[in-house]
Amino acid sequence: MDRVVVFDTTLRDGEQSPGATMTASEKLKMAQQLDQLGVDVIEAGFPISSPDELASVQGIARSVKRPIVAALARCTPGDIDTAALALARAARPRIHVFIATSDLHLQHKLGITRAQCLEHAAAAVERARRRVDDVEFSAEDATRSDHEFLAQVFDAAVRAGATTINVPDTVGYTYPSEYHGLISYLRSAVPGLANVVISVHCHNDLGLAVANSLMAVEAGARQVECTINGIGERAGNAALEEIVMALKVRRDKLPFCTAVHTEELYRASQLLSRITGIHPQPNKAIVGRNAFAHEAGIHQAGMLKRRTTYEIMQPEMVGAPATRLVLGKHSGRNALAQRCRDLGYQVVGGELERVHQEFKRLADKKREILDEDLLVILQERLLDGGPTRYRLLDLEASSGLGTAWARVRIALPNGDEPEARCEGDGPIAAAFAAVESVVGRKVELEDLNIRAATPGRDALGEVSLRVTIDGRSFSGRAHSTDIVHAAVEGYLHALNKASVAARPLPVAAAAEDYLWGV
Ligand code: KIV
Ligand code: ZN
Repeated sequence: MDRVVVFDTTLRDGEQSPGATMTASEKLKMAQQLDQLGVDVIEAGFPISSPDELASVQGIARSVKRPIVAALARCTPGDIDTAALALARAARPRIHVFIATSDLHLQHKLGITRAQCLEHAAAAVERARRRVDDVEFSAEDATRSDHEFLAQVFDAAVRAGATTINVPDTVGYTYPSEYHGLISYLRSAVPGLANVVISVHCHNDLGLAVANSLMAVEAGARQVECTINGIGERAGNAALEEIVMALKVRRDKLPFCTAVHTEELYRASQLLSRITGIHPQPNKAIVGRNAFAHEAGIHQAGMLKRRTTYEIMQPEMVGAPATRLVLGKHSGRNALAQRCRDLGYQVVGGELERVHQEFKRLADKKREILDEDLLVILQERLLDGGPTRYRLLDLEASSGLGTAWARVRIALPNGDEPEARCEGDGPIAAAFAAVESVVGRKVELEDLNIRAATPGRDALGEVSLRVTIDGRSFSGRAHSTDIVHAAVEGYLHALNKASVAARPLPVAAAAEDYLWGV
């Protein structure tokens, strides 16, 4: 059976999703989870875009050794050399160069001719091949490019040494049979494609990214580029979990396999949601909260008689947990460690001690600790809290039909522990105003989500938010049985990230970047 290479771009294209910015340590955790998931290629980032990004790709290349680690580069010497530098310690480096090929992009974005585009593409692939053996070439906006010209560019890229040729549907414009036709045309027009891997990269603007990817595989593509939870620019990229499960469940029609350990899909999805604060909608295929829930009586009755009446795959196949009562206040470390193992986490030594402490703190507030509670604790531990320049020492808040107010006391980096009391429309707004006045920074709240991370009246509340500080966007998250507390910790999480973030590229450099931009 033919194997399809799974190229995960959660950390690069996925991170371009509004509000999905991740810190270097969050990206490393995610890369480790992707390694565990069994993806073949991790696109770790776009190293030229900032010094932070370069360091983050270097960190991943240093520590994740099984999968190929790819770095993105425009067809310019600076980009390619920076990508090579980022990958210097990688066990299996890949440089991924791209240039737009549609007339629309050539004329209006890059201001170059088709002939210049051809030259840049070939020169870039040659340069990248002098640095690494594994070079991918992408024709941005391929699906809106003149097909004959696209074939010429691919021919030049293959001759220059590209080992993978990617045909992106950059703006999510194509539809399944059309894309199938394009891949088939390219295979017949460019004989050299027989010796390289054909890759597809679909965006979801019309909700067709997964369908288009599958049709491309039918037409001969053997690499799919995708992201966990389908995050990415605008409407996102093709969702990795959907492609992988479609190939697994419909092997009768799509006789292809992947190396993905599907039982890790849910864990990867949860980790990403926790990091970015972007949760898949409840009815999201494979990883949504309702993906395996059966509400209607007729469905439930059918399920009880035979699961396959309404179930084409089982939650266990993707690692989705069944809600089960697990542990209580008096449970010891051994029972806790065993339950963690059942959920797929090896927790030992000091780590077990810390998880146990957290578990006991929660058990004091909640009667029963469910698998979902434990998953929140485990994933938070895994993530490390990030920088802690500002720490919440005390919080008091009051709400009711009158004015709400909140008082906070915060430890500052200089050792001071000032407090402030503010009023607001509600206790969360009042607490945010108090934090702002204590830390003395202007914080614009862009988005705030509060949800119950676990079931029941004593649910663990999870707050994820996005703020803008000095023109840059930062996400924050926290959980607590008290949502005002969770909101303040989430706000501080974002503020702490902002306090250690490197400066962005100067405006001139950013503008020049746009000329060649992704
Ligand atoms: O969508 C796109 O065209 C891309 C390329 C850089 C592969 O993300
Ligand atoms: Zn893309």
